[in-house]
Amino acid sequence: MKTKILFVCLGNICRSPAAEAIFINKLKSLAISKSIQVDSAGTGGWHVGRMADSRMRKAALNRGIKIESRARQMKLEDFDMFDLILTMDNSNFEDVKSLGSQLGRTYKAKISPLLSYSNNTDLLEVPDPYYGGENGFERVLDLLDDAIQSLLDDIQ
Ligand code: 4NP
Repeated sequence: MKTKILFVCLGNICRSPAAEAIFINKLKSLAISKSIQVDSAGTGGWHVGRMADSRMRKAALNRGIKIESRARQMKLEDFDMFDLILTMDNSNFEDVKSLGSQLGRTYKAKISPLLSYSNNTDLLEVPDPYYGGENGFERVLDLLDDAIQSLLDDIQ
């Protein structure tokens, strides 16, 4: 049985597709790679079907990370499909919990803030870079890289 992980942000065009791509990149060299499946989604549906934000794709590519996913919106089936749903900020966390409560029953997925896995920051939220400058994307990639490394150490 594969462990299935879903990264979630608001639009699924900046933070969560970057998290997915970083995770895939790190996973490639690990023995557990075949036993983990990863995806990303947004709580909102405005960007469904689009490639990730070009600023994020460029910043990631500078680090050797190719973001190839297309945006999708979270759906109720995700709560039983995935083992772990990792949110980027408090608002995503609350929105995901609220969506899950529509099922009216318990479900498989555990919902956690991604940064709760990181040992190197006191931040609990990955800031939304969408309306900011280039530095914001670098900061997001640094935070994601660190938390995902800890997540993978934890899973192994
Ligand atoms: P993301 O960033 O949640 O990291 O994908 C955003 C992308 C788009 C918008 C907000 C945040 N938006 O308002 O369209």
